[in-house]
Amino acid sequence: MMIKKVVMATNNANKLREVREILSPLGIEVISQKEAGADVEADETGDTFKENAIIKAQAVFDLVEYPVIADDSGLCVDALDGRPGVYSARYASKGQECDKLLDEMKEVPDEKRTARFECWIAFMDNEFTEVVSGTCSGSIGNEKRGTNGFGYDPVFLYEGRTLAEMDADEKNKISHRGAALKELYKYLKERNGD
Ligand code: IMP
Repeated sequence: MMIKKVVMATNNANKLREVREILSPLGIEVISQKEAGADVEADETGDTFKENAIIKAQAVFDLVEYPVIADDSGLCVDALDGRPGVYSARYASKGQECDKLLDEMKEVPDEKRTARFECWIAFMDNEFTEVVSGTCSGSIGNEKRGTNGFGYDPVFLYEGRTLAEMDADEKNKISHRGAALKELYKYLKERNGD
């Protein structure tokens, strides 16, 4: 069946805008879970980003009659065995995550500061669930730089600059979320028979 309308399992206006922009060329309308009347916030109890994306999608899918998109993302630092990972949003109080990470890594030499952002997106409808993902590989700097973006952007170095030193368009081209959304676009384009 042709997909014309999907619900995004978020109330985050930025995420919603980004997904709308990507899917609008396919003629797919994206509405928020609030607009769809799904007042629910799933507990992110999964051990992986993929599991959490599916948990979030399922919670909304149970309440609405449209296909659902949900995402989960975070930062994996090699020197910390992949932490904060699925706990990225809960690693420190809001606005403190960069300082806490820099402090925890103060003894780690430059060549061992490699890290990656991951984004996983689940698309769920009556037929089946498809999961796509994207990564952005870089490293953790020794200080915060830049004022754009959010979360760990000021300490995440990509080719010599932090993500917080890039504007939104530039970041979208190389980001984990941008890469995952590109995969979602390809999948939905194929589903709609283009
Ligand atoms: P969630 O995917 O909304 O559950 O949140 C993931 C958490 O990972 C965010 O709260 C941020 O701390 C972090 N994160 C995910 N993507 C990014 C990014 O693009 N820049 C900086 N931090 C990010």
